[in-house]
Amino acid sequence: MERIELKKAERLRGEISPPPDKSISHRAVILSSISKGRSVIRNFLRAEDPVSTINAFRALGVDIDDRGSEIIINGNGIHGIREPNDVIDCGNSGTTIRLLSGVLSGNPFFSVLTGDKSLRSRPMYRIINPLRLMGADIMARAEDRYPPVAIKGRRLKAIKYDMPIASAQVKSSILLAGLYADGETEITEPAKSRDHTERMLPAFGAEIKVDGLNVKIKGGTELRGREIDVPGDFSSAAFFIVAALLIKDSDITIKGVGINPTRTGLINALKAMGAEIELLNIRDVSGEPVADIHCRGGAALKAISISREELPSLIDEFPILCIAATQANGITTIRGAEELRLKESDRIKAMTMELRKMGVEIEEFSDGLSIRGKADLRGTTVESYGDHRIAMAFSIAALVADGVTTINGVSSVNISFPGFFEILRGLTA
Ligand code: S3P
Repeated sequence: MERIELKKAERLRGEISPPPDKSISHRAVILSSISKGRSVIRNFLRAEDPVSTINAFRALGVDIDDRGSEIIINGNGIHGIREPNDVIDCGNSGTTIRLLSGVLSGNPFFSVLTGDKSLRSRPMYRIINPLRLMGADIMARAEDRYPPVAIKGRRLKAIKYDMPIASAQVKSSILLAGLYADGETEITEPAKSRDHTERMLPAFGAEIKVDGLNVKIKGGTELRGREIDVPGDFSSAAFFIVAALLIKDSDITIKGVGINPTRTGLINALKAMGAEIELLNIRDVSGEPVADIHCRGGAALKAISISREELPSLIDEFPILCIAATQANGITTIRGAEELRLKESDRIKAMTMELRKMGVEIEEFSDGLSIRGKADLRGTTVESYGDHRIAMAFSIAALVADGVTTINGVSSVNISFPGFFEILRGLTA
C-alpha cells in the first residue's frame, strides 16, 4: 500500500466540486436495477464502493451501460434479477452487502455475498435477524456474524421491527425486503439515520410513509425506472470544510454539496465550536437538498461534547471531527459512539493511536474518546488501517502539523474519493 508525505499548508483557496454522493450512488443503482424500464443516473460516483454495487447487479443479470457521463440501466422489475453463477464480491462496501441482502431475500434463488478482509469482519447479524423474521433463508459465517452471507430467497412476510441501533444500512435492507413482502412492513429507529432510501423509493413508485423515526412500506408494488442526478457527497466535502477552518487565511467554496439534514451534523458541531460556514444557493436535486458551502479559516475554536443522539448525523465525519477537536480550546468529548468500532476500521482505536503519535493528549473509552486541544501536532508516520476516511482525516491533520507527516495506506481513498489528493494539492497551491 503506498504512502504520501504532506506538510504544513499556508492557506486553502479556491472553488471545488466534491465527488458524487456514495450512499445515493449505491441506492440509484439498486433501485434502477429492480425497476421496470430505463433509468438514467447522472453524476454517479465512480469509486470502488459504488462500482461494487454495479458489478453485483451485472452478476445478477441486469443490463447496466456505463456511458461515462451517465449510466443507463434497463431493469426488468423487482423480480427481474436472476441467480448469479458465482459468489458476489462486495469489496469493501458495507452498503452493498447489507442492502443487497434485503433484495436477495425476496428473490427465489441462491446467492453468496462476500468481500475483502475488512468487510469479512463486519457484523451481519443486524440484517440477518430482521430478514429471517420476514421469512428469509439467510445465514453467515461464525454463527451468522460475518460474511460470507448465503441467501435462499423466498416470498416474504411483512414485519413490525424496532431497530436496536440507528443504522441506515439496516433500515434500507429491511425496506428493500419490504418491497417483496405480503403486507406493510414497519420499522422504528432509535435515532434518525440517513434517509436517502426513503426519499428515493417513492420517486420510483414505491408506497412509503415516513413519520419521524417510523417508516412503513407496502409490499408488492412494481417500481418504474426514472432519471436521477446524484448530488455532491457531504462526507467527502467535510475534509475540506475542516481543513479551511483550521488554516488561517483560507477561503474556499465547495459547490453542489448534498445537505440532507440526516448527514450534516458536522456543520452544527463546527458552528457550535465557533466556525464560520455559510450555505449558499440552496436548491433541490432529485429530492435531496443541495447547497454551495463557503468556509473561511482562522476563527478560534472551542471544545464541544457530542452525544449518542447527535451521532447518526455525523457518523462518517467522526475521524475529521477528531482532527478539528485537536485545534479547539478545551476537552472535546464524543460518547455513545461504539458503532464507530464497526466501520471500515475500528475508528475509535485508529484515531486514538494515530493522534497520540502526533502528540495529542487523548483518552479512549469503549464508546468514544476525549481530545485535549489546542494541541501542537507533530509530523510523524501514521497508519490509515486501510480505511479511506482515516487516510483523508490524517491528510488534513498533516496540513496543520509541524514537519512532515507520512500517511501509510492512502490508496484506500479510492473507496469513496478518487482524486482526493489532486483536489487537495489544487487548494493548497
Ligand atoms: C451508510 C450508512 C452508514 C454509514 C455508511 C453508509 C449508507 O452506515 O456509516 O458509510 O449508505 O446507508 P450504518 O448504517 O452502519 O450506520
